[in-house]
Amino acid sequence: MTTTTDVPSVDFDPLDQDLRFADYPVYDRIRDAGGVCWSPARGGFWAVADFALVKQIASDHQQWLSGDGVRIPPNGTPPTFALEYDRPTHTAHRQILTEAVGPRITPSYEGLVRDHARRLLPAGREAASFDLGEPYAFRLSLDVVFALIGAPDDLKHEVEVLAESLFLFRRPMPDGSDPAVRLQEILDALVADREARPRDDWLSTVVGYGHRAEAPLSQQEIHGAIVALLVGGHHSTARATGCLLAHVAAQPQLQQHLREEPGRIADAVEEAVRMWTPLRWFARTAAADARLGGVTVRRGERVLLLYAGANRDPARYEAPDVFRLDRPRSRDHLAFGWGIHRCVGMPLAQLEVRVAVEEVFARSTWVELDGDITWTSSTEPRHIPVLLR
Ligand code: HEM
Repeated sequence: MTTTTDVPSVDFDPLDQDLRFADYPVYDRIRDAGGVCWSPARGGFWAVADFALVKQIASDHQQWLSGDGVRIPPNGTPPTFALEYDRPTHTAHRQILTEAVGPRITPSYEGLVRDHARRLLPAGREAASFDLGEPYAFRLSLDVVFALIGAPDDLKHEVEVLAESLFLFRRPMPDGSDPAVRLQEILDALVADREARPRDDWLSTVVGYGHRAEAPLSQQEIHGAIVALLVGGHHSTARATGCLLAHVAAQPQLQQHLREEPGRIADAVEEAVRMWTPLRWFARTAAADARLGGVTVRRGERVLLLYAGANRDPARYEAPDVFRLDRPRSRDHLAFGWGIHRCVGMPLAQLEVRVAVEEVFARSTWVELDGDITWTSSTEPRHIPVLLR
């Protein structure tokens, strides 16, 4: 077992709430020490912040496994569909999710996303005070994911609270109850509804896979597929949308540029997800002893892929802390991961964030900050008070 005495080490606890706004200096220290450091926190793991090394690990799914969990510490829930599986099961899971949010189907969602965005923005054409944070960025990604799953709107608030307790904050409900129990009931009811009355939607197809002759999906897998979209698609996309809108509202030159050249909004989306990397890290487990940078990682040890650190690596990005629309190879960042687990919802996320900005521009001639932006973490703007002119 690795100890802190014989290798570069860092005192880094990825769940430390005080680091939520201040993790970048830690990533700088890891890179200065060669890109890989041992951290004794949470049972011990290798923290990797060098762009090339993180990409190398994410690309090699045979050496660096996801099946032993990608969270540190494990959160005690059953493995997340696709995300926490290795091949061959991962391939089957991935195909099911690709049917819902892959590159072929996603362009057809543009109208739906636009409708939801317009519904959330203040009606009319006159100037209006509005909050682009929770009431817009956060609602939009939840509304879209609910529409794609085909879940009834009246469950939205409850499911949101349950999923946050279970997967984001990892704590019981305020009344002490176990969120997993109630979520299970809701998912059972959704599946039973499609069993009884199949519709022309993704959920009915997935429920139908439960009856396939070959490799039928278990009830747990069907639930897992639904939860993967719900959990994968909500906060991640909301953060990206919020970060970009906050930046646009605070940077008049950028706003002017994007209004004059709306074709560049897609580039702004990529630069925003690189800069603010909404999901900071995911873990892997070594399948065999391996050299990584200057260290030896033993079989069974965990490595933490610091996507947020890799995306600010000065060896990969000139002036990494500056928002720039003209970066060469701007889509090669690691905010969506890399390799076989690269975000399956990437096309949807890109579409959603772009449309969210386009619709704000369509509703206004100018967006002016109208108070302080408040953040729940360095990547999660909660309130973005603006005047839509
Ligand atoms: C800006 C928004 C998003 C970001 C930054 C993001 C980021 C990521 C990252 C970094 C991974 C790789 C995890 C790993 O390396 O272990 C991932 C995987 C995944 N994401 Fe996203 N994601 C976003 C939006 C979405 C959306 C909209 C959905 C679905 C509605 C989604 C569903 C998933 C799923 C299911 C996986 C697991 C894929 C697999 O293991 O094959 N994500 N995401």
